[in-house]
Amino acid sequence: LASTEVDISKIAPGQAIKTSWRKQPVFVRNLTPQEIASAKAVPLSELRDPQTLDQRTKPGKENWLITLGVCTHLGCVPLGTGEGENRGDYGGYFCPCHGSHYDTAARIRKGPAPLNLHVPDYAFTSDTVVTIG
Ligand code: FES
Repeated sequence: LASTEVDISKIAPGQAIKTSWRKQPVFVRNLTPQEIASAKAVPLSELRDPQTLDQRTKPGKENWLITLGVCTHLGCVPLGTGEGENRGDYGGYFCPCHGSHYDTAARIRKGPAPLNLHVPDYAFTSDTVVTIG
C-alpha cells in the first residue's frame, strides 16, 4: 500500500506538523529535551494505556514522535500541531470534541479516549526523511 515521505528537516524542537497518510492525519513532532524528560518521568502505573516513550519512538530518535492525528475516542483530530494551539493539560495534544488530553508521548492521560494516539509503521530513510507506511 502507498507510503508517504515526509521531510522533517524544517521541524524545530518543540514544533509539530500535520501531514497525511492514507487520507488520515498524521502528526510529526520534534520533542524538546524537557518534553522527553517529562514523558520518561511518568510511572507506567499512572497510564491508562501503558507504554514507554521508547516503545513509541525509534532507538536513537526518541525526539521524533510520529502518530496518527486521530483521537482514539470518536476520531476527531486533536489540536497541538499549530502554533499557539491548545496542547492540553499534559503538553501534548488536546482533543476538543469531548476533552481528551494526551501527553508529550501522545499517551492518553485524561478524558474519554481509551488509548494512546496510534503510532503507524514508519522508517527513517535518511536523517531528514521519514517514510510512513
Ligand atoms: Fe476526541 Fe471524543 S473524539 S475526545
